[in-house]
Amino acid sequence: MLRVCMIGTGYVGLVSGSCLADFGNAVQCVDINEDTIATLNDGGIPIYEPGLKDMVARNVRSGRLAFSTNVGDAVKASDVVFIAVGTPAQEDGATNLTYVFDVAETIAEFLNGYKVVVQKSTVPVGTTREVARRIKAKVSADTEFDVVSNPEFLREGSAVEDFLRPNRVVIGVESDRAEQIMKQVYRPLYLLETPVVLTTLETAELTKHASNAFLATKISFINEIAAICELVGANVDDVAKGMGLDGRIGPKFLHAGVGFGGSCLPKDISSLNHLATSRGYVPHIVRAILELNNGLPDRAVDKLTIELGSIEGKTIGLLGLAFKPNTDDLREAPAIRIVKRLLEEKAAAVRVFDPVAMENFKITGLDVVYCKNAYDVADGCDGLMLVTEWNEFRQLDLPRLKKVMNEAVFVDCRNVYKPDRLEAYGFRYQSFGRGVAET
Ligand code: UDX
Repeated sequence: MLRVCMIGTGYVGLVSGSCLADFGNAVQCVDINEDTIATLNDGGIPIYEPGLKDMVARNVRSGRLAFSTNVGDAVKASDVVFIAVGTPAQEDGATNLTYVFDVAETIAEFLNGYKVVVQKSTVPVGTTREVARRIKAKVSADTEFDVVSNPEFLREGSAVEDFLRPNRVVIGVESDRAEQIMKQVYRPLYLLETPVVLTTLETAELTKHASNAFLATKISFINEIAAICELVGANVDDVAKGMGLDGRIGPKFLHAGVGFGGSCLPKDISSLNHLATSRGYVPHIVRAILELNNGLPDRAVDKLTIELGSIEGKTIGLLGLAFKPNTDDLREAPAIRIVKRLLEEKAAAVRVFDPVAMENFKITGLDVVYCKNAYDVADGCDGLMLVTEWNEFRQLDLPRLKKVMNEAVFVDCRNVYKPDRLEAYGFRYQSFGRGVAET
């Protein structure tokens, strides 16, 4: 049984730590945030992630998973140390690596024999080698260790499943000794014959950024086609279907709407842009994606304005706040930009409901009315915007909704409904890329 230390109990660290315990490793998850560790030791989970609570509870019961604030002791007692701390974006798009490098210094301080140090959180190319350099600079010449880059590909909302049954595992590793240990860490996945890509540190780091940039490209491409659909009277859902059936293209990530958000895609793309630019290359596609995606929340409000003439003095409702369903994460959520714009345009009130993200939204301090459900949001509204496609918004009682609204205007930012269905119920309906041809 390998002894694993997971430094950082945020989203990536907590999911990875508890799943690695489920794989049979003895895992200590550590964090300097005492409140987070206290919550975890009390059986609480600081984030909303389906399946995580059970996974944590089961592994704590089995004795394979523990939480502590004592980073030094956990490092000393481990064979493998994962770095899973935050890597926030700076104003200029560069990644703030302070936490990663602080952890590298701490690991160096407590290195008491050979260990594999694994960089898990997403970092710009070159960071893992820099972690090695910093550790080496602090320890004695005969202290043995290896560094590994092992990026995560976890989607929020299905992160546990993604960890247990990944499409692939990417491991940047440059010594046989560390490679054998990584194989042991992920042994159950080897038994399932999960593809494992073994490569260099830099290639592993770039594979992560390239994967997320490609996903963002696919989304942005279909959003561009949606804009063209509106001009020529074509339907983007059918275009996407027709494209996606080509095995070379594939149907996933071709859903048009108000664009991508979240903690990964926007940040990773900005980081890639910054990295390429700083090395003298202009990343044309990456820049175009950022520009297109940033403009989509405003396009959604423009659609509302088409129907209402002006936002000023109107009451607007938002269904959904989280950047996508099944998460309470609001990072880079289109809802934030939409609410800001509505308030800038002097909406009389902005009424909102999200099944899990309302507590987090309160931190923004934006002046909105928090409601109990979709019908409560709609009460007295002049316009309703479906921003996050939670399941409960897919089967709304449309007559009931219309009855409580002041004006029946519906902007569907995720193309959940069929235009003719909403129109049959008497709504003035706007969505993305379902154009009506001029006759
Ligand atoms: C993503 C990657 O999928 C994951 O591999 C990586 O490690 C972290 O970043 P996540 O941010 O959780 O995961 O969300 P994802 O499901 O990929 O969706 C990203 C965004 O794209 C969401 O805002 C979603 O609403 C949007 N999206 C997705 C679309 O607008 N259209 C689509 O067709 C798919």
